[in-house]
This record gives sequence, structure tokens and C-alpha cells, in this order.
Amino acid sequence: MDKLLITGGTRLSGEISISGAKNAALPLLCAALLTKEPVTFTNVPRLNDIGTMLKLLAQMGVKVSRDGHGAATGGGLAGETITLDASGLNNAVAPYELVKTMRASILVLGPLVARTGEARVSLPGGCAIGARPVDQHIKGLTAMGATITVEHGYVHASASQLKGARLFTDMVTVTGTENLMMAACLAVGETVIENAAREPEVVDLANCLVAMGARISGAGSDVIRIQGVPALHGTSHRIMPDRIETGTYLCAAAATGGDVRLTGTSSAYLDAVIDKLMDTGCEITTERDVIHLKAPARLTAVSLRTAPYPAFPTDMQAQFMAINAVAEGSAVMRETIFENRFMHAVELIRLGAQIKIDGNVAFVTGRAALEGATVMATDLRASASLVIAGLVAQGETSIERIYHLDRGYENLDQKLTALGAKIQRVKA
Ligand code: EPU
Repeated sequence: MDKLLITGGTRLSGEISISGAKNAALPLLCAALLTKEPVTFTNVPRLNDIGTMLKLLAQMGVKVSRDGHGAATGGGLAGETITLDASGLNNAVAPYELVKTMRASILVLGPLVARTGEARVSLPGGCAIGARPVDQHIKGLTAMGATITVEHGYVHASASQLKGARLFTDMVTVTGTENLMMAACLAVGETVIENAAREPEVVDLANCLVAMGARISGAGSDVIRIQGVPALHGTSHRIMPDRIETGTYLCAAAATGGDVRLTGTSSAYLDAVIDKLMDTGCEITTERDVIHLKAPARLTAVSLRTAPYPAFPTDMQAQFMAINAVAEGSAVMRETIFENRFMHAVELIRLGAQIKIDGNVAFVTGRAALEGATVMATDLRASASLVIAGLVAQGETSIERIYHLDRGYENLDQKLTALGAKIQRVKA
């Protein structure tokens, strides 16, 4: 298994481009199941999770065409163009072998049952960050008239025709909202999703669905209304920039006292993160699709609480823990979305961080320096926090199990190298 070797102590500086958003691309690829016509996506990031989703769709009979290229840009390649043609959809099954490696596979459930009247999707198990049930996806589809059974580890849904319904989710769920919104596009009548997720990725999906002929209003608010239509058609859609990748590089630059420009992104979806970075003492300026961050020599620790968008994202909590570990002062970090999302803390402690965990609260006291060590990545964002810590630690940090990173960060080592980091991928 590959590992990353980082020699800390370099101040990041320069310019890199941000990739398309993983968490927008995954539901968007599934939206192609809703039509017999081809749908083309541009700015698709080259990530292992995207590869897994394409494999899943291909084994259902979806024709996948990839351009495979993309022009070189600062610190990486421009996103890929992928065309999906689901006219030959012939197997409404998502098998355990693929679902177990990526929970987002559940996003095929709504589109499959809406388009074919049938779906068999392996139940995603728990994962490193928590139990993550899919009961809200099932509850919503049942309210729309689907018959759902869970047998032998598979969710089996059938419905000759989904019907519009008033849906209320017990908690804000991102992929739950996306699954139900996609299913409702082909239902008869009106569906109203209350307590809907307001994440920008939900809006990106809604924009694409509208371009495919769906009638959706309210995406980006907590009430989404969908008037069902008999069929959707093909379109072309550019995937939005990855706000979490953007936030991660901003944190890496901040932690190293750096000065970086991120292009091909947007500050529009990052208010909570930018606000916290300014509280650490960073100067941030934005212009159209560029964000420029200039960090002070030493950051100030910032307390935070994760919550659904537009509040501070859970997907940025680990990166801020790395920042707080080397900042002046102490911080209280409260995780409210996932029950087990502090696994990076024990690894950061191996690098010398001072962190105490009490349930869903982490108390971090900043230290003047961390020391390099061997650490293990446990999930995608946890690995990002270890990379940030490695960039500031004295000496060498070796990060194992970096397949977690490759799920969600395109060309991370090349991009950091372009900013001056001493980072090397070692093939095992
Ligand atoms: N939940 C339930 N039942 C459900 C659905 C969700 O109990 O039916 C709970 C979850 O267990 C969790 C909370 O509700 O405690 C919120 O989960 P949500 O459904 O919003 O998470 P998700 O849709 O599975 C997406 C992102 C995650 C991100 C979360 C929260 C994608 C593909 N994944 O997951 O991204 O952390 O929303 O913003 O969009 C990542 O990129 O590293 C990542 C984990």
C-alpha cells in the first residue's frame, strides 16, 4: 500500500487550481440513470470514488465514455469529461462488493426505482466515522409509494409508479435529500421535501436536473418542491468546484504560515470556513473564481461547532483540528453530525498534539511545534488533517493507508509539491 512521506517546515506559496467537487459529482453521475438520453459532465475530478461509481453504473448497463485527458493546469490536470448513456440500463442492482467500498452508492436507489420501478441496493454498513443508517432514504421512498423490504443485506424497492408526497426527514441528510429529489423528478404529482439539506451540492444537482427537464424549486432552502414529469432528457453539466478541497488547501497554507492563490473555485460556499480562518489571523481576499490567503507567522486557535450548511462543515473539522494543534491558545471543537469523527485526534497526538476528547467535544491546546512520526489515515478528511500536521511537523512524517486520501483529493501530492511542500508518494 502506498504511503506519503512529508518533510515539514516549508511555508506553502504559489498557485494551484481546485478540482470539481466529489460530493457534487457522485449524485450527478447517478442522475444520468433518470434518462434514456446521454448526459455529459465536465470538470469531473479523477478520484477513486468516481471510479467506483462509474464501475457501479457500468455493471447496470450504463455506457460510460471518458475523454481521459484534460489540459494541464497549475498543480494538476483540468477535470475529465464523462458522458453517461443509460438507454441500455438492464440491471437495477448495486452489489455489496461495490457498495461496501463507497456509501454514496446508495444514491442509485432513488433514480433506479423511479426509472425502472425496481432496485436492489446492498445496505451500506457502518463506516469509520459512524453508523450512518439510510432509514430516511427508505422512509421517503416508502411515502412515495415504493414497497421496500430489507433482506439478506439488500434494500429491495419496487413501485410501478412513484407518487408525489410530502416528505419530512428526521434530520438533515445530504444524500437522503438528493436521493428523494431525484426520485421525485419522475413521480406523478408534487413532492415536497421538508427539512431538506441546503448544501451547495444539492443545488448543483437540482440545476442539472432542471436542465434535464425536471421541475424543481427551492433547492438551497430547507423546503424543496418537485413537480414530477413523465421523462427527463440529456444535457451537459459542469461540476461545481470542490469547497472541501478548497478549504483543505486554505488550512494547509494557513498552518504553514503560507501565501497561496487557489483558482477555479468560489468563496460563495465557504463563508463559515473563511470566517474561521480570518479569526485565526489569516488575511483572505477573493475575486471571481480565485481565493488568496496570506497567513500570519503564528495562528490563533479557533473554537467551532459543526452543523449542516450553511454552518461549519463536518468535512472541515479534522483540518481545523490540525490548525488548532499548532495555533496560539486553545479551542473547543464540537462535532454534531457524526458520532465517531475524531479518529484523527489520536494520530495527531502521535505527532505531539495536545488534544483531549470527551464524547463529541475535543479540547485542543496549541503547541509551538509538532514532531514527525508514522501515522495512519482512518478516513478521507482525517487523512487530510494528518497531511496538514505533517507539513508543519519537525522532521519526517509518514502517513500510511493513503488510499483514503485518493478517494477525495485529486493529485494531492502534485498540488502540494507545486506549492513548495516536500512530499513524496512511496509505492509499497
Ligand atoms: N442519517 C441517518 N439516517 C439517514 C441518513 C442520515 O441517521 O437515513 C444521519 C447520519 O448517520 C449522520 C447525519 O444523519 O449522522 C447526516 O448524514 P448525511 O446523510 O447528511 O451524510 P451523507 O449524505 O451520507 C454527505 C457527504 C459526507 C458529509 C455528510 C455531511 C456525500 C457523498 N457525502 O454524507 O461527505 O460528511 O454529507 O455533510 O455527499 C466526505 O466527503 O468526507 C464525507 C463524509
